[in-house]
Amino acid sequence: MQEQLRTIGERALAELGAAADEAALEAWRVRYLGRRGELSQALRGLGELPPEERPAVGQVANEVKQQLEAAYAARRTALAEEAVARAFEAERVDVTLPGRIPALGRLHIITQTLREIYEIFSRMGFAIYETPEVETDELNFQLLNIPPHHPARDMWSTLYTDREGVLLRTHTSPGQIRLMREMCPAPIRAILPGKVYRYEQVSARYEFMLHQVEGLVVGKNIHMSDLKGVLEAFARQVFAGMRRWRFRGSYFPFTEPSMEMDIECVICGGPGCPVCKYSGWVEILGSGMVHPRVLQNGGYDPAVYSGFAFGMGAERITMLKYGINDIRYFFSNDPRFLAQFG
Ligand code: PHE
Repeated sequence: MQEQLRTIGERALAELGAAADEAALEAWRVRYLGRRGELSQALRGLGELPPEERPAVGQVANEVKQQLEAAYAARRTALAEEAVARAFEAERVDVTLPGRIPALGRLHIITQTLREIYEIFSRMGFAIYETPEVETDELNFQLLNIPPHHPARDMWSTLYTDREGVLLRTHTSPGQIRLMREMCPAPIRAILPGKVYRYEQVSARYEFMLHQVEGLVVGKNIHMSDLKGVLEAFARQVFAGMRRWRFRGSYFPFTEPSMEMDIECVICGGPGCPVCKYSGWVEILGSGMVHPRVLQNGGYDPAVYSGFAFGMGAERITMLKYGINDIRYFFSNDPRFLAQFG
């Protein structure tokens, strides 16, 4: 019987190494150490042995049992450690790897330019005032001294709506009338930014929608020199002293006299290119002294009050600041273009 117990012990130890997981180990335990396991079964015959042989057999049984229990415990620990090591290996993280940088949004380049324009004029004491994009013919044209059917209307290719007398504003100038009517007789120093719409063939130079910033100053003793001073201070700041400018006499029905401001063409640097129409200069704004009839339409007596106004294109200014040669980049929303700014 002792021989039998030892054989069971050896077989059990040999098999233990093959128990590669929890389930196999448990099966092994049940088979050899369980209450109805092989050791217990073998000891069933103990009672039939002569009493003097029993202690020796019992001792061998205990030895084998202890040996198996110790081996079982060791194997169990080893398996658990292996499982942990495997998990570490599988979930390995290199904490020294650089993180993934999430793609951050940014302000659109035109928004950035607009905000810069707001800051420059805010520092000069201008308030910001917004007016509607859908306007009446009366405000967009008639009250600005442009009667129906007047050829001056050709200056703006207009998008009309189905409703008689209602259109998409072609410029921010109707805001002048709205602001004057709201403020009269108080003095005014404000900019009026916003989108304007034009019935244009889209090209490198023209879009059917663009952003304008209108300026309006009304008060007593406002002169052309004030207008020039403000525009020069603006140009110096927005182009950081990097561009030359010039004033050129012009015509607008709602200002008298009128002038435009040109900035030297950065695309070609002077000799001429399609962007500057081969002149070396690019117009960035129209301006002038508010026409007496327009002052009157706003409620101000032109014998007492005077004023100046200007209207600039944010896209043009952005193109000249950054050397962009095609206005269509701004709203075709190619992220490769937009990501370059900001
Ligand atoms: N509204 C004019 C335009 O869109 C610009 C302008 C504004 C001219 C104010 C004079 C005074 O072309």
